[in-house]
Amino acid sequence: MRDIQSERIKLLQSGHVPIYEPGLGDLIIKNKERLSFTLNVDEALAHAEIVFVCVDTPPTSAGDADLSRVWSVLRSLKGAAHLAAVVVKSTVPVGTGARARSVLDEAGLGHVGYASNPEFTAEGRAVSDFLNPDRVVIGASDAETARLVEELHQGVNGDVVVMDIPSAEMARMASNALLATKISFINEIANICEATGADIGNVSKAVGLDHRLGRHFLQAGIGWGGSCFPKDSEALKQLASNTGYHPQLLSAVIEVNNLQKRRAIQKLKDQLGTLEGTQIALLGLTFKPGTDDMREAPSAVLASRLLAEGAAVRCWDPLARPADVEPWTSTTRHESVLDAVTGADAAIVVTEWPQLREVTWGEARGLMRRPVLYDGRNLLGPQTMRDLGFTYLSVGRP
Ligand code: UGA
Repeated sequence: MRDIQSERIKLLQSGHVPIYEPGLGDLIIKNKERLSFTLNVDEALAHAEIVFVCVDTPPTSAGDADLSRVWSVLRSLKGAAHLAAVVVKSTVPVGTGARARSVLDEAGLGHVGYASNPEFTAEGRAVSDFLNPDRVVIGASDAETARLVEELHQGVNGDVVVMDIPSAEMARMASNALLATKISFINEIANICEATGADIGNVSKAVGLDHRLGRHFLQAGIGWGGSCFPKDSEALKQLASNTGYHPQLLSAVIEVNNLQKRRAIQKLKDQLGTLEGTQIALLGLTFKPGTDDMREAPSAVLASRLLAEGAAVRCWDPLARPADVEPWTSTTRHESVLDAVTGADAAIVVTEWPQLREVTWGEARGLMRRPVLYDGRNLLGPQTMRDLGFTYLSVGRP
C-alpha cells in the first residue's frame, strides 16, 4: 500500500478523520469499540462475513472507469472461503458484476454471494444522506445475498429496492447523469435568460414548483464539478459509446457544462478588454461549499484559462487543501476575501461559501483596482452590489 494510505490508517486508528466530512468524526469516536482500521488484508478478513469494496475508480485515458483497484481487492480475497458476500460500493460501469463474478470464481469463491449497493451520498452530507437516504438500491446475485445486505441497513431510514445487478449499476449512473442534466439544462436556460431579459431565479422557482420537475438541482451557476458528476457522466458516455450508441443528450450536457465555465472568462473580457496584465481574484476554490475537495472544481478551469490569458490569479477559500500542482502553484493564496481582492481588476465568486455573504463589500469595492464582480453562483443581491458601485455580473439575471 502507498504511504498516504498508511498515514490515513494511522489517523483513523487514533480517532482522527483525514477528510472533511461533518459528523463522521463523531460517528467514528462513538463506535470506536466496533471499528478497526488496518493495512493488513488478512486481519481485515479474519472475522468478516461481508466485504464492501469502496475503492475509487478514476477515469482511464480513454474516459472509461479504471477498475484495476476493484479487481485487485477482489483477487486479494482469495482463500477467504468463510465469506458470505462481497458488496461493491465503488462507482462501476454496468457489466462489472458479471466480470466480478468471474474474478471471484477464479479466486475459489464461487459459493460467495455478490451484490452491487451503489452510493448516493453527497460530499459534506454523507452521514445524513446515508442515514436518511431516498432509497437503498441492492442488486444481488441471489435472494439470500440481497437479504444479508438489506439486513445491514436496519436502522437506516429509507426504502430498500432490490433488483438485478446490471440495473443497480445503471441506477447509480443514471441518477448522477440526470442530476447533471438538470443543472446543465438550467444553466442553458440561464444563458437564454441573459439574452432575453428574464431572471433565472424566478424561472427556477416557477419551474421547480411543478412537483413533476422538482425544485432540486435547478440552481444556475458556473457549472458542476467534483469527483462524481464529471467522471461519472464521462464514464456513462464512454460506456454507451463502447456499445456503439452515441449518447447525444449526455454529450450535450457535458459540453454545456464545459462552456459554462469558459463563459465567465468571456464576460470578464467583455468588461476589461484584454486580461493580459490584470489581477483577478477567485473567491471559493472547492467544487461546492461545505467540503475541502477541489477535484474537478470549476475554479481550476478558471485559473488555468486566466493564466493562459496573461492574468495574475489571487485566490481565497476557507477550506480548500493547498495543491502543489498547476494551476495552483502559479496563483497566490490569501487568508481573507479583502486581501484577495486588493488591487484586483475583477473578482469571481466561484463557490457559494456563506462567508461571502458576510463580506463588507463596500470596503472590498474600495480595495479593488476596478470594481468588476462576476457572481458565478448568484449569491449576492444585484441591486445592493450595484448600489455599492460594482459592475455586477451574474448568471441568468438581468
Ligand atoms: C453527487 C450526488 O449529488 C450524490 O447523490 C452522489 O452520490 C455523489 O455525487 C457521488 O457520485 O458520489 P456531490 O458530487 O458530492 O454529490 O455534490 P452535489 O451536491 O451533487 O454537487 C455537484 C456539483 O453540482 C457541484 O459543483 C455543485 O456546485 C453543482 N450544482 C449542484 C449546481 O451547479 N447547481 C445545483 O442546483 C446543484
